[in-house]
Amino acid sequence: MESEGLLQVRQKSRYKTIEYRAREREVDANLKKQVLRTFTYGLYAVSCADAGEVNAFTANWLTQVSFDPPLLAVSVENDSKSLPMMLHSGKFTVNVYKAGERELAGLLGKSAVQHPDKMTGVACEIGANGCPILRDALAWVACEVRHTAPAGDSTLLVAEVVDVGMIGEGKPLTMAEAGFRHAG
Ligand SMILES: Cc1cc2nc3c(=O)[nH]c(=O)nc-3n(C[C@H](O)[C@H](O)[C@H](O)COP(=O)(O)O)c2cc1C
Repeated sequence: MESEGLLQVRQKSRYKTIEYRAREREVDANLKKQVLRTFTYGLYAVSCADAGEVNAFTANWLTQVSFDPPLLAVSVENDSKSLPMMLHSGKFTVNVYKAGERELAGLLGKSAVQHPDKMTGVACEIGANGCPILRDALAWVACEVRHTAPAGDSTLLVAEVVDVGMIGEGKPLTMAEAGFRHAG
């Protein structure tokens, strides 16, 4: 049973009431940041194509969410250039950064609105879905958007894996290796 601000969960055959602190002002801001930054993440370049244009941005808010069908979820900033492109075309490609690709991840982590030339000089090929595949990626996953949900300042996209490829060898880049922060 749920009511506003309260989440009741069954535990050991009785109900326990847990205060559900969802509002920013009710949570200690520094502690929230500290705790959310203990999460571990990978780093990916999400590429997209729409109306004759291509783009790619670095993302860590990305994970597999289903085996069958194979689904991924990615949260995309509402004020990004990429979100309307992904929603309109209904597709995108996840490029897995290779270990050591911190500089490329930092470059594509910039806003295309503020850095319209960020893709210039980035070696890519265009995949069958029209989205860029980075030549220096470890692997890529072509996705088709199946569901969307509002997620605060971002939008959550749940997408089906429709094609995949391995490009390189080695290990994937992690947030821990890159030393970037994008949580909290
Ligand atoms: C380490 C790192 C992780 C990021 N993770 C995400 C993410 O998961 N989702 C997202 O929308 N933007 C993320 N960003 C910001 C984007 O890379 C980018 O700056 C922004 O979304 C706008 O991209 P665009 O305008 O090129 O579409 C991240 C940036 C960095 C540096």
